Order: sequence, then structure tokens, then C-alpha cells
Amino acid sequence: METKDEEVAAFISRIFNEIVSSPLNLALLGAIGYVAYKIVATQMEERKVKPEEPPLPKLRKQDMTMEQLKQYNGTGPEGRVLVAVNGKVFDVTKGKRFYGPGGPYAAFAGRDASRGLATFSVAASEEFDDLSDLTPVQKESVKEWETQFTEKYEYIGRLLRPGELSRNYSDGETEGESSEEEDVSRPKAE
Ligand code: HEM
Repeated sequence: METKDEEVAAFISRIFNEIVSSPLNLALLGAIGYVAYKIVATQMEERKVKPEEPPLPKLRKQDMTMEQLKQYNGTGPEGRVLVAVNGKVFDVTKGKRFYGPGGPYAAFAGRDASRGLATFSVAASEEFDDLSDLTPVQKESVKEWETQFTEKYEYIGRLLRPGELSRNYSDGETEGESSEEEDVSRPKAE
């Protein structure tokens, strides 16, 4: 009687013999090896070609008009990208592969993405959008996106409606000191 180990060894050796005894199988094995090598080599090459960009210095806290926001669409000298969601401006530069020039969501760069996010449309208006005609479900979706952006990206300030004045942020102000207008979307402890 063969033991379990012997059975497994015999099975593997049979497969091995099967492969090496047929030139066609050998050729296929070679082709698979070559493709696998190419994939790994290409990935390593890409990593070498595109080193991680060092992060930009933090932008000072400030409220912005649509006009000001528009300057930060990733094509400026710094390449900084800002996106507004639910009246708040976020620095999404670290998500440049999404929002930067040529990225899948580049249409949101330097714009208010709220309506697009709520309606599954990668498009944004140049005009200020008060979002008042969104359905309750869409408004909820905008708030969820805002929470997601708050967790991932740096908050810069509020998006100003036409004629609205900027708040004065003192230089040393840190997150939380100006929070009275924030956190409408975040549920309290769950
Ligand atoms: C076929 C449709 C879509 C597919 C397959 C898709 C796929 C994805 C994937 C895989 C990610 C995560 C990428 C990562 O974290 O590495 C992502 C992120 C995202 N998607 Fe989509 N997406 C689709 C449509 C949309 C649409 C219609 C919108 C908005 C209108 C949208 C907005 C976003 C945003 C804002 C992010 C987050 C990027 C970030 O973390 O800042 N996507 N998508």
C-alpha cells in the first residue's frame, strides 16, 4: 500500500513527466513564463519611471470663490488639485491619479463635484450651484461623499456663493477651531 505522501509524490511526478515529455507543453510553459516575466518587468519599470511625487506644502486655510477654485485644476505650475463637495473645498492633490489632467475624474478638478457625484455624472458646472433642487436621496449621497473626502483629504475652506464674503482664518488656525459650520453630515457616535 502506498502512503498518502507517496501518492502525492507520484501524482506530481506524473504531471511533471507529462509536461516535459511533450514539446508542445514545454513550449506553452515557456510562453507562460515569458509573459509572466514581461508583466513583472513592466510593473517594475513603471515604478522606476514614475517615482512618487513629494507632497506639496499645505495650502493655507481659506474660503474660495468658484473663480479661485478654478485655478487649482492640476494644470497650474504646482499641479495642485482642489475639488469642492457640499460647499467645502478639499485639496485632492494626493488623489491626482483620479482628478489630475487625464485622470478619470479630471472634470471635477477645480470645480464643485457635488451634483456630478450625486447623479453619477463625471461633469461639473462652472457656475455656482446651490444644489437646492437635488432630491433627498441625492442630498444624502452628497453628504456621504463629503464625509469620504473629509476622511481622505485636507479641508481648505468653504466654497463661497457669489457675493458671499470669506471668513478670516488666523494663520495658526488648526482643524476644529472653526467647526461651527462643519459636520452637518457626520452622524454622532453610532
Ligand atoms: C463603470 C463605472 C465606474 C467604475 C468601474 C469606477 C471605478 C472606481 C474605482 C475602482 C475607484 C477606486 C480607485 C482606487 O481607490 O484606487 C473609484 C473611485 C472613485 N470614483 Fe469611480 N467608477 C465608476 C464610475 C464613477 C462615477 C460615475 C463617478 C462620479 C460621478 C465616480 C466617482 C469616483 C470618485 C469620486 C472616486 C474616489 C476617488 C478618491 O478616492 O478620491 N466613479 N471608481
